[in-house]
Amino acid sequence: MITILFFFLLPLFPQHVKSSSDSCTPQQIHIALSDAFTSAPTSNNTIKAIFHTIEECSSAYISLKTSQGSQKITAKAVNSFQATYSSGDYSTYVHIFDFPQLDYSQTYEYYCYGTDDTSLAKAQGPFEFYLPSPNYAGQETKVVMFADMDVTDQGMTTVNRLIDLAENNFTDISAFIHVGDIAYNLERMAGTRGDKYMRTVQDFTAVMPYMITAGNHETEANFSNFNMRFKMPNFDQSQNHYYSYNIGNMHFTSFNLDLIIEYPNLEKYMLNWLKQDLQQANSNRENQPWIIVYTHRPFYCSRPRDASCASNSEKFSDFEALLVKYGVDLVVSGHVHFYERMLPIKKGKITAFQVHLDDDNFNEIVNPQSPIYVLQGMAGHRDDEADPEDAYEGKAWTVKVSKAYSYLAVSSQNNTHLLVEDFQSSDGGLVDYFYVIKSDEETYTRLAYENIDELNRRLASNGYQLRNSLLTLLFVCLYIFV
Ligand SMILES: [Fe+2]
Repeated sequence: MITILFFFLLPLFPQHVKSSSDSCTPQQIHIALSDAFTSAPTSNNTIKAIFHTIEECSSAYISLKTSQGSQKITAKAVNSFQATYSSGDYSTYVHIFDFPQLDYSQTYEYYCYGTDDTSLAKAQGPFEFYLPSPNYAGQETKVVMFADMDVTDQGMTTVNRLIDLAENNFTDISAFIHVGDIAYNLERMAGTRGDKYMRTVQDFTAVMPYMITAGNHETEANFSNFNMRFKMPNFDQSQNHYYSYNIGNMHFTSFNLDLIIEYPNLEKYMLNWLKQDLQQANSNRENQPWIIVYTHRPFYCSRPRDASCASNSEKFSDFEALLVKYGVDLVVSGHVHFYERMLPIKKGKITAFQVHLDDDNFNEIVNPQSPIYVLQGMAGHRDDEADPEDAYEGKAWTVKVSKAYSYLAVSSQNNTHLLVEDFQSSDGGLVDYFYVIKSDEETYTRLAYENIDELNRRLASNGYQLRNSLLTLLFVCLYIFV
């Protein structure tokens, strides 16, 4: 009986791999854009690489070169430490590598070594990545964004798609951005769940800058497990909780609202930082005309029973005011496990924009007066079984709702057109798409204020699917403008 019980309980205990053959083999390899991509860099580091080993392996290093071999660098870890997790004697050793002043718009190849032994048998690699540029040179820039993902069967639908994207489009995509809730949870099973997640996603994180922000599933022990693993730009200042960077003609800003929920007295400090960041970004539109914000908790969504959808915009109204004031173009969030695309919103009301008269899916939103919000909590995780009772019909601001596992592609095609597409993870099929357009052309019809008012009246009364009211509205527009 005791034997049976032992085998039953065995999977609950972490497996500490001690074999000498793999104790210094690099694992959980991931790269991220670093300080040089920020508007106020604290160093000239262009890329940061991190891997783990089971033992201390103090001579770990990375050998990196351009794909043509013109630039060769051997880097020792700038920081190595033992990551001890929440319980048990399990730990790994984390090794962090900085690569200053790499040339932008170049492809690099690297190997990771856990020991001085230079034999390829001991190395992990080669891995190839493309280093984008923080400066705009006229080419389209694309990132992939998703939230709420683990490596269960549910999450693997998207993980496999992301691996495929990373392998086949690695010079077209500048970064994968995970908008919180990672691995469910990184610290569980004494950190082995996070280690398993990071080993599984290594096929894309080793070759694609993996940018992350914390969600409510990263809060444990003051975000400590999360912060041991990831180092976003200017980490020493902000410990992953707020940061920004530029890629091509896009400015990305991220902030962690779960930090504010845990520590409300930090709200003022974060608001101050956000104000400075967005003010600076807004005055720099000639270089980065697009400002994209990502934060795990949604400001807006329509799930009837979800407290986030009911109250976040009021709870975080000072944050929203800054997003509106400085003309943020797109806000991507997760947390609520649906895809929902909304019209431009300010203080809970739809604001003015222009559309084509026949654009009944609002695929081109022209000159919006407030940010467009996208909820992308649909990458997939263990609790995602469909619940038929879980109604999600959308409100008057809703353009599209989906419960398919998916990911978002955001492409700044030029300084006037931003394309946002949501793709189904299972087969790559298009779930939704829209352009945000900045245009002086008069081929678009302003959705008249009285129509916006009518939408807002419906929003205030009970809210319902926008599509149902759309034809009526377009007939009104036709009547007014033609
Ligand atoms: Fe969440």
